[in-house]
This record gives sequence, C-alpha cells and structure tokens, in this order.
Amino acid sequence: MEKVMKKSLLFLSENAFFTKIAKKYGLQYGASRFVAGETIHHATKVIKSINEKGFKVTIDHLGEFVEDRLEADENADECIVAIKEIASKELDSQVSLKLTSIGLDISEKVALDNMNRIMKVAEEYKVFVTIDMESYSRCHSTIELYKKLKSRYENIGTVIQAYLHRSESDIVELNSLSPNLRLVKGAYKESHYVAFPKKKDVDDNFQKIICMHLLNGNFTAIASHDDRIIDFTKTFVQNNNIPKEQFEFQMLYGICKERQQQLLEEGYQVRVYLPYGKDWYGYLMRRMAERPANVQFVLKGMFK
Ligand code: FDA
Repeated sequence: MEKVMKKSLLFLSENAFFTKIAKKYGLQYGASRFVAGETIHHATKVIKSINEKGFKVTIDHLGEFVEDRLEADENADECIVAIKEIASKELDSQVSLKLTSIGLDISEKVALDNMNRIMKVAEEYKVFVTIDMESYSRCHSTIELYKKLKSRYENIGTVIQAYLHRSESDIVELNSLSPNLRLVKGAYKESHYVAFPKKKDVDDNFQKIICMHLLNGNFTAIASHDDRIIDFTKTFVQNNNIPKEQFEFQMLYGICKERQQQLLEEGYQVRVYLPYGKDWYGYLMRRMAERPANVQFVLKGMFK
C-alpha cells in the first residue's frame, strides 16, 4: 500500500495538470508545515519566528534543472535579494542553493558566473552560502566549482553524500581547504556503480565520514533525522572532546520537530533547512513520498 502511495505521490509531483489544480485550490495551506511560502517576504517572517525559538536557519529558494539563461540569472538574483534581506533584518540564516537552478545544466561557466555574483554580495553582507549536492552526474562539476569558489571566498560550503563511493576520497581531498561541509545520506536514485545500494553500508559510510571530517578539525553539519546517526554523533563528539561550536545538526523544516527541540534543549546547535518559492509543489510531494504519513499534516493544514 505504502509503495503504491509513494509511486502516486511521485507521479503527482511531476504532473503539470495536477500541479495547476493544487496551486489554484489551496494546497499551499497544507504545504505551510514544510514550506515557508512563495516569496522571500513570507520566508523572512518564518525565519524570524524560527530564530526566536533558538534555531538557526538556512533558506533554499526552490527551483532546479533550469535550462534557460534568463531563468538561471533570475534565480541568482533571487538569492542576492535573499542575502540582502537576511542581513538587513539581522536574521540568523544562511542560504542554500542548487547549481542547476543558476545554470549548471546550461554550462559550468554560467553557474560559475552566477555564483561569483552571489558570493560577492554574500561576502559583503557576511552571509554563509551552501551549495546543495544534486545527482551524481553533477557531483564532479559541483566539487570542482566549489574548490574554485572556496579559494576566493571563505563563507562557502557544500554537501557530501554518504551513499556515494567517492565521498570518503572527497573528504580527504577537500581537507586542505578546511571546508565547512554538510554531510547527508543522499537523496537521488543512483546506480550501484556509484552508490552503496544497501542502507547499512550508507549508514556505516555516513558514520565514517562524520568521524573523519570532525577529527580533521573542520566544521561539520550533520544533516539527518536518523536517531541512530544523531546518537552516534553525540557519543563520538563527547568521547573525542569535540567542541559544540565545531558542528551542528541540520533538519528539514516541519520534519521531526520534537527531535529538533530536544537537541536544542540539550545545548546543541540546530539549523532548520527552510524552503520557499513558487516551486513548492514538487518539493512537498517528494517529502510526502518519503513518508506518506506526512499526507495527514498537509490535509490537516488545508482544512484548518
Ligand atoms: P532516513 O531517511 O533513514 O530517515 C530517518 C528517519 O527520519 C525516518 O525513519 C523518519 O522517522 C524520519 N524522516 C526522514 N524523512 C522524513 C520525512 N520526509 N518526513 C517525516 N519523517 C522523516 N540530500 C542530497 O542529496 N543533497 C543535499 O544537498 C541535501 N541537503 C539536505 C539538507 C538537510 C538539512 C537535510 C536534513 C537533508 C538533506 N538532504 C540532501 C537529504 C538527505 O540526503 C536524505 O535524503 C534525507 O535527510 C533523509 O535521510 P535521513 O538521514 O533523515 O535518514
């Protein structure tokens, strides 16, 4: 039953007709548990309320796989507006972005030009930017662009996916840059040639790269809702005297809220990944497909 539900939700996430209907008839009211709204003005209000509870934030302007130069430039402009808003309202928020939203699928040069525009403003306004990691086919270019940018700007990080065979050597290679990295399990469907197919191997590799990056003395964001990964990290940092300033936990907005609160109360830094933008529909459907129980939250929100 769950499999059928997941398949249907993924189908609906890509269906243009249903997207239009859902947007027109108010599914956004249900989406508000997982998405901050359609504009940066909606998002800044939500960031403020999250900050007031003691959480840090990273915002993500939804959108990916752009093939049109104008759209890529507009998405980069949107990031720049977001950075200025965060700074002017003195919010405790970083910015996360996907390189395909600012032109990586057009060319590496378009993505790099847009990143340079974004980073100049981010450096001036002292806002940290994380480049999300996308599918394996974009991993090499993402790491190479990251290396170029990190040699010019301090306030930039990226993501390493534990399910990839290459992640351990990426951690070793990037170490000379003292990078601030977000470590995740990995969210895309990849072939067994490049990724561990078994959950246990992914989890083992996740723990391995968490230890490596922390012991290298680098800032580490552990982005996971998995209790075993979180508990493993807590024990590891305690046994190795790693200060709480050297790492943080990151979770998605609206997911495992009680766990987020508990970590905060235990004195850990917790950052909430907060998406916003007109493209909220596909994101929402993917979160529901990950865990069909989320459908009830969306329905509750709609009726409220
Ligand atoms: P896992 O999937 O094993 O889930 C553990 C438990 O968490 C579940 O049993 C459930 O209780 C809860 N849970 C997980 N997902 C849920 C959901 N949707 N609704 C409700 N409960 C849920 N990936 C990537 O490839 N590139 C990236 O840049 C990023 N960036 C990123 C940032 C942040 C802040 C997070 C939290 C995650 C990412 N990811 C990502 C996604 C990541 O790779 C991974 O797919 C998800 O975090 C799910 O894996 P978990 O580690 O949470 O464990």
